[in-house]
Amino acid sequence: MTSSPISRRTALTGLVLLGAGGAAALTACSSGDRPVGAGAIAAAESARPTSGRTRTYRVNARRAQVDLGGRVVDTWAYGDQVPGTMLRATAGDRVRVAFTNELPEETSVHWHGLAIRNDMDGVPHLTSEPVAAGGRFDFDFTVPDPGTYWFHPHSGLQLDRGLYAPFVIDDPSEPGDYDAEWVVVLDDWTDGVGPTPEQIFADLKRGGGSMGGMDMGDGSMGGMGMGGDGGDVRYPLYLVNGRAPTDPDVLRAKAGQRVRIRLINAAADTIFDMALGAHRMTVTHSDGYPVEPAQTGSLRLGMGERYDVVVTLGSGVFPLAAQPLGKQGQAVALVRTASGPVPPSGYRPPELDTPPLTVVDLSAASGSALPARSPDSRQDVALSGSMSGYVWTINGRTYDKTRPLTVRQGQMTRLRITNHSMMGHPLHVHGHTFQLGPAGGRGPRKDTVLVPPMGGLEADLLADNPGRWMVHCHNAYHAEAGMMTRLDYQAT
Ligand code: C2O
Ligand code: CU
Repeated sequence: MTSSPISRRTALTGLVLLGAGGAAALTACSSGDRPVGAGAIAAAESARPTSGRTRTYRVNARRAQVDLGGRVVDTWAYGDQVPGTMLRATAGDRVRVAFTNELPEETSVHWHGLAIRNDMDGVPHLTSEPVAAGGRFDFDFTVPDPGTYWFHPHSGLQLDRGLYAPFVIDDPSEPGDYDAEWVVVLDDWTDGVGPTPEQIFADLKRGGGSMGGMDMGDGSMGGMGMGGDGGDVRYPLYLVNGRAPTDPDVLRAKAGQRVRIRLINAAADTIFDMALGAHRMTVTHSDGYPVEPAQTGSLRLGMGERYDVVVTLGSGVFPLAAQPLGKQGQAVALVRTASGPVPPSGYRPPELDTPPLTVVDLSAASGSALPARSPDSRQDVALSGSMSGYVWTINGRTYDKTRPLTVRQGQMTRLRITNHSMMGHPLHVHGHTFQLGPAGGRGPRKDTVLVPPMGGLEADLLADNPGRWMVHCHNAYHAEAGMMTRLDYQAT
C-alpha cells in the first residue's frame, strides 16, 4: 500500500537546494543580525488604522459530542459545534477574545491569514506561551484587512479534530453586491470515527501511509506515491459545515438571488475541487483579497486556502459538492431555492469534470496588488520530503534544525518556492499576504498557496509586519513531520 513519493532524482535535486539554502543562511548570520523586539511590534500595532470600535468574544476549546449528520462523535471543538461559532468584525476594529482551554492538554489559537500583531499570532513557544489545560489567554489585536479568514490551534495535530471556525472581516467600503451570504467550510474527518490524528501520525511515521482509511475496505490507495495531490490519509468522512453527506447542511435562498459564498478549506490532509451543480461561479476574492472576477465551473482549494465566489442561483435543489483529490468520497451540502428532488447520494455534478480554476488563472484586482518594485532580497523555499521515517522539510531541514528566512522592515523579498516532491503542498506564511508572479506581476495576493507536485512559483512579500512568523505546509501531518520554517525580521 505504501510507496515513496520521492523519486531518486527528486532526492538529488533536494540535496542541491539544501546546499544553496545553507549558503544563504550563513550570509545572513555573518552580518550580526538580531531579531526585532516587542517595541517594533507595538509600534506596528499603533500605526494600524483603527475604527474606534471594539468587539469582544469568548472562545472556549473543550471536549464535545457533535452530530456530524446522523453520526454523533466525541471530539474537541470550539464550544459545542463544528465548525465553531463564526467571529465577525470590520476592518480596523479592535478584537478582544477571552479564550479558555478546557481541553485535557495545552493548546493555542492562531488567526489564520490575519496580518495582526505578532505577539497575538498564537504560535506556542514562538509568539506566546501555550495555553495550559484549564488556562486562559486574552487576545487583543486590531484587524487590518477585510476578508474571509479562520482560526485553529497551532499545537500538534489538534487542527485535525473539530477545532476550527470562520472569522470574517467586513470591508466598510465594499458595495456588497449580493443578496445573501453563506460561509462554507470543508473538512476531512476521522476523530471519533476512525483513528485519532495522533494514531494516524504514528502510523505514518512507522511507514504505514494512508492509515486513516485502512478500515474503509474500499481497496483504494491513498494518494502517496500516486504522483499527485492525493494526500497521505484517507478519511472515513468529508464534511461541509460539519455535516456528512448522510444529512447535509441545507443552504437556502431565492431563485435569481446573487449569493456570496465564502469557502474555507479547513482540512488537515485534503485538497478539494468544489462545484455547485448546474451553476457557474465568479471568483471574487482569494485569501481575503479581491481578484479580477473570474468565471469557472469548478475551483481547487488547498488546505488553509479561502476563496469567495458569487453565484446567481437557479430554481431547484443543487449539490454544492467538494471532491477530495485522489480520495474516495465526497463532501456535500444542498442549495435549495425551490422544492424539487434531492440529488441522489454520491451524485457528481458534471462541473467537477471541468478543469478547476487555480491560482494561475487569477490576477490581483487593481488596488490589491503590491507596489511594483524590484525585490531587495531573494530567498529559496524548497519543499521536499522522504517517506523513510515520514520526514518533510523546507530547504532540506526539519523545523527543529531550521534556518529561518530573514527580512528587514520595509523590504520586499522574493520567495522562490519549489516543490521537489510528487505531492502538492499548501505553503502558508503567517502575518503577511504575498503576491504571486514575477516582478510587477499581477498574480493574486495570497497567504496560502498550493504548490503543485514538482512545480514551483515565485511570490513577492512586503515586510510590513515585524516579528517572528511561521512559514509552513498547511498539511497538518507534513507540518508535524517538520515542514515548517520561520520568517524572522532583523533589527535595522
Ligand atoms: Cu492555518 Cu500556521 O496556520
Ligand atoms: Cu506538505
